[in-house]
Amino acid sequence: MSLRKDFLWGGASAANQCEGGIFEGGRGLANVDVCPAGPDRSDIITGRRKMLAMDKEHIYPAATAVDFYHHFQEDIRLMGEMGFKVYRMSIAWTRIFPNGDEEEPNEAGMAFYEAIFQECRKYGIQPLVTISHFDCPVGLIEKFGGWRSRKMIDCYLRLCKVLFTRFQEYVVYWLNFNEINMILHAPFMGAGLYFELGEDEDAIKYQAAHHELVAGALAVKMAHEINPENKVGCMFAAGSAYPYSCRPEDVWEALVTDQENYFFVDVQARGYYPAYARKRLERRGILPAIEPGDEEILKSYPVDFISFSYYNSRCIAAPGNDSEEAEGNLFKSARNPYLKFSEWGWPIDPMGLRITLNQVYDRYQKPLFIVENGLGAIDTPDEKGEIDDGYRIDYLREHIRAMKEAVEKDGVDLIGYTSWGPIDLISAGSGEMKKRYGFVYVDKQEDGSGTLARRKKRSFYWYQRVIETNGEDLG
Ligand code: BG6
Repeated sequence: MSLRKDFLWGGASAANQCEGGIFEGGRGLANVDVCPAGPDRSDIITGRRKMLAMDKEHIYPAATAVDFYHHFQEDIRLMGEMGFKVYRMSIAWTRIFPNGDEEEPNEAGMAFYEAIFQECRKYGIQPLVTISHFDCPVGLIEKFGGWRSRKMIDCYLRLCKVLFTRFQEYVVYWLNFNEINMILHAPFMGAGLYFELGEDEDAIKYQAAHHELVAGALAVKMAHEINPENKVGCMFAAGSAYPYSCRPEDVWEALVTDQENYFFVDVQARGYYPAYARKRLERRGILPAIEPGDEEILKSYPVDFISFSYYNSRCIAAPGNDSEEAEGNLFKSARNPYLKFSEWGWPIDPMGLRITLNQVYDRYQKPLFIVENGLGAIDTPDEKGEIDDGYRIDYLREHIRAMKEAVEKDGVDLIGYTSWGPIDLISAGSGEMKKRYGFVYVDKQEDGSGTLARRKKRSFYWYQRVIETNGEDLG
């Protein structure tokens, strides 16, 4: 069996990494806006340093990003030209509810997203909408401390209701939270959490996660009630954990690392807290407050499909190894001696995608969707301004090949594939512009200069052909 005929090929972005225009259309300020580029970013996205407003000493890349806010027609036309069947995008919560808790939505924000959906329709592109891609209104952080408060559930559901109702005729594929497991690694960027001295960070993170899990399940319920055609997926940052060696301690540590990640999906797909999580959280004395009725909600409204980002596998060494460290998508791990690494030190492991697809499918037996994958690299235009990004084509080719093997040889049920950042955008981890993922180059430089002009890279034509042949011609 090859890829299904209606396989959803496309690309993925996040509002805060591409839109810019944060002071336009009545938009309010969000956590993702106040995460600066540079050395302080790490302390801020992890909630160790509080930043709820912009100051003069920092540069805030989300403020202008790549100005999708004014370029969306051109960008969607380019996606159409590549033959996209789907465009994964996210809603900036504060365009719809500037403070997060207004009674009525901001119509300018609604109009902006409707215009995007209409543009997609012109080219036969189906939107796949992430309701919250790391977004949390600063208004709600100031009032409630972000997702540490249960009050967030109602605010989030208010957003869901407006989206499900008003965009019914455009959207059936939804994701409730982007990379829900990132709450453990970048809690401010992921959930608007920051910590006071002496607070138990893990306790707060798991309590906040519980609120998101309940909110996510109620979003599934609401989506189905409003339109039975709606399909809601969860989304997590995947990448299987390999044991550094066959030493049982390494194997055990790798298993625990995977469980830490799967915990969220276990709840969202199976509908209950897995035994290992309960035990560990109880032992640490940080089992979240679970209110009467919560378990019933989690049980009754599991997700329809499972989506994930895959950039790399991880390699886990128990204490007592002399392993070196490797970077990764906000997780560090041991350096896998069998792999090559990107310019940012992330492992490159196409076979790991096949392994991850198999493990996730075995575990949940629900349709899967790869909603992020790609290579962040420095692209240097030649004297004619052309960009030959053969390294990106190589990366994507090998990952798509591995994905096809998982479908064709292993029988994994896969809905689609959206590569990350089809039009260059700013990095979530580092805030850099020079870390590019796109098929289309955006003339914006690290210092903010540039014309914002869009230019097709060699990978543009390559991906166009991949989509045209439903993945048969990988060049
Ligand atoms: C995922 C996020 O973590 O990885 C994206 O969902 C992010 O928002 C992507 O951009 C790639 O990471 P980075 O740090 O290279 O932007």
